[in-house]
Amino acid sequence: MGNCVRKPVKCAHASSSNFPPPGATKPNGDAKQVSTSPSGESSFRSLNKSLIASKVDVSVHSNLKSFSFTDLKNATKNFRSETMLGEGGFGCVFKGWIDLNTFAPTKPGSGVVVAVKKLKPESCQGHKEWLTEVTYLGQLHHENLVKLIGYCSESDNRLLVYEFMPKGSLEQHLFRKGVQPIAWTMRMNIAIDVARGLSFLHGLDANVIYRDLKASNVLLDSDYNAKLSDFGLARDGPTGDKTHVSTKVLGTRGYAAPEYVATGHLTPKSDVYSYGVVLLELLSGRRAMEEERGGFDDETLVDWAKPFLIDSRRVLRIMDTRLGGQYPKKAAQAAAALALQCLHTDPKNRPLMIDVLATLEKLNTSRDIIPRTARPVKLDNHGIKPMNSPYRITKT
Ligand SMILES: Nc1ncnc2c1ncn2[C@@H]1O[C@H](COP(=O)(O)OP(=O)(O)OP(=O)(O)O)[C@@H](O)[C@H]1O
Ligand SMILES: [Mg+2]
Repeated sequence: MGNCVRKPVKCAHASSSNFPPPGATKPNGDAKQVSTSPSGESSFRSLNKSLIASKVDVSVHSNLKSFSFTDLKNATKNFRSETMLGEGGFGCVFKGWIDLNTFAPTKPGSGVVVAVKKLKPESCQGHKEWLTEVTYLGQLHHENLVKLIGYCSESDNRLLVYEFMPKGSLEQHLFRKGVQPIAWTMRMNIAIDVARGLSFLHGLDANVIYRDLKASNVLLDSDYNAKLSDFGLARDGPTGDKTHVSTKVLGTRGYAAPEYVATGHLTPKSDVYSYGVVLLELLSGRRAMEEERGGFDDETLVDWAKPFLIDSRRVLRIMDTRLGGQYPKKAAQAAAALALQCLHTDPKNRPLMIDVLATLEKLNTSRDIIPRTARPVKLDNHGIKPMNSPYRITKT
């Protein structure tokens, strides 16, 4: 079995996903789970309930392939470390090879490439998230949602098999050192793709709330088309007269809407807030939270950016210096104004995702665009990081 020891053991999604109770002190850099509302977490109505009750019976998802553990072991070369694509709170993700018609494991270089996510046995939230993911992605199909090919549920093993996204995650492209910065046009296309994915979810009868929007969950195909991945925290939204659903507070620090963190009241507008954070990351090239600093620093990207966003003369000071000024000013200002709306403290004042999408599409077709050939300047870093704030402006 390959190594999967790069991160300390945590609950699924606890790495960056759960929140410290108000006033909690930082134990050792790991976030703590908090439950603000004990009410029901079952999602996707009765179907998911029955799946949870039956523990592993996912046979209703006839469009999904049920893999044996041995097949996935063979497809990933025994989960060897060189096939590892990344690691999250749920477990490690490996590259694998399968035959497109028979789904049987093949040799590397033949068949199709897939991404195999393997749940850590220690993961406490894991089975439930695994099931939620199978339930939602087994039924929802859209060009901006990552495709789930199948799953494995054999004794204690829980795995998921996805289409392989060759360009990895948006997080890798925006924040990793040594990576070619992505150009303005591509950033806007990614913002549109993500808005399309969320609009699709919010437009469903079940009013599905994604709840885990962040740069690492936005995956990119070979043409940099963006797709949402990780539906383990998704759940049905409020319908009829209901204004919200009450849930345990799960999600990711720095991305989750403040009212949801405070009350556990979840609405599609919680996703809109997270979208505002991702849009801000695309514009600024800065992380929602600086993890290196423990993730418990009080100042988030939103805290840092808001004074600039509300001041039209200074708004462009948030822009990623790695763009080398290669972006249309009016469109950047409009995108920043849109981010500010999404980040409104009162969820009622945030736009609907469908309106966010329309605004961005309009922006993208406006005449204020830069030529496709314009490339961002390659810089070593974002500028000098100040001693006491990762988010302080260093140059204009
Ligand atoms: N379908 C895929 N194709 C290619 N790479 C993938 C795929 N799914 C995941 N990865 C890679 O594996 C990494 C880990 O993914 P995972 O969803 O387990 O964790 P995460 O999103 O980084 O964190 P968290 O568990 O907190 O959500 C991703 O950042 C990405 O680089
Ligand atoms: Mg993820």
